[in-house]
Amino acid sequence: MLTRVAVLVSGGGTNLQAIIDFAKAGKLKDGEIVAVIASNSKAYALQRAENAGIYHTVIDRKSFPSLKGFEEALLKELERVEADLIVLAGFMTVLSADFVSRYPQRIINVHPSLIPSFCGDGFYGLKVHEAALAYGVKLTGATVHYVNEVTDGGKIIMQKAVKVHDGDTPEVLQKRVMEQAEWKILPQAVQKICKKIKENRL
Ligand code: GAR
Repeated sequence: MLTRVAVLVSGGGTNLQAIIDFAKAGKLKDGEIVAVIASNSKAYALQRAENAGIYHTVIDRKSFPSLKGFEEALLKELERVEADLIVLAGFMTVLSADFVSRYPQRIINVHPSLIPSFCGDGFYGLKVHEAALAYGVKLTGATVHYVNEVTDGGKIIMQKAVKVHDGDTPEVLQKRVMEQAEWKILPQAVQKICKKIKENRL
C-alpha cells in the first residue's frame, strides 16, 4: 500500500508544486498525495492542487478563535483522509505540542535555512532570508526535518546549501534557495519517508 500523504499549505504552494511534479514524473514511488489542506482560502496552492486533480480543502485559521479549535478541525480532516504522512510545505501555523504528539515522526517540514541557523519562532518566509542577509552569511540553504514540539527543532532529514551572492535582496535569495534547494530536497525527503513508512521502518 502506498503511503498516504497530506500536504498542508498556506501560500503560493511552489513546494507543493515540486512534490506534484515529482509524483507526475513517477518518482514518488512509495506515496500518493491524497489531500492538500490550506489554512487560508486565498492560498494559490489550492489552485495548484485543483490543476493537478488532487483533493483539496480549506481549514481557515482565521475562522477559529483558538489554535485548539483549528487543530481539532485539522485532525478530523487528516483522520478522514487517512493520512499516514503530513508534509508542511509553506504552512504558516506553528502546531502545538499536543497536536504534534498525535503524529510522532509522521510530520515533516521544509524550512528555508540551514537549521540551526535562522530558525525557530518568528523565522518564516522572507524573514529567514532577511536575517541571513543581515548576519552576512555566505552560505545558506534549506532543511527538511521532522516536526516535534520545538519549532524547527526536530531531527534533520535532508539539507542543501546555497550560496549567497553580493547584492542579494531577500526576494532574490528566497528564489535561489527555493530553486536550488527546497524544490529538490523536499520531494526527495517525502519519497524517502514514504518508503520507510511503507516498509514499516519508521
Ligand atoms: C518556503 O520558502 C518555505 O520554506 C517557507 O515558506 C515558503 C513557502 O513557499 N516556510 C517557512 O518559512 C516555514 N517556517 P511556497 O508556498 O511557495 O511553498
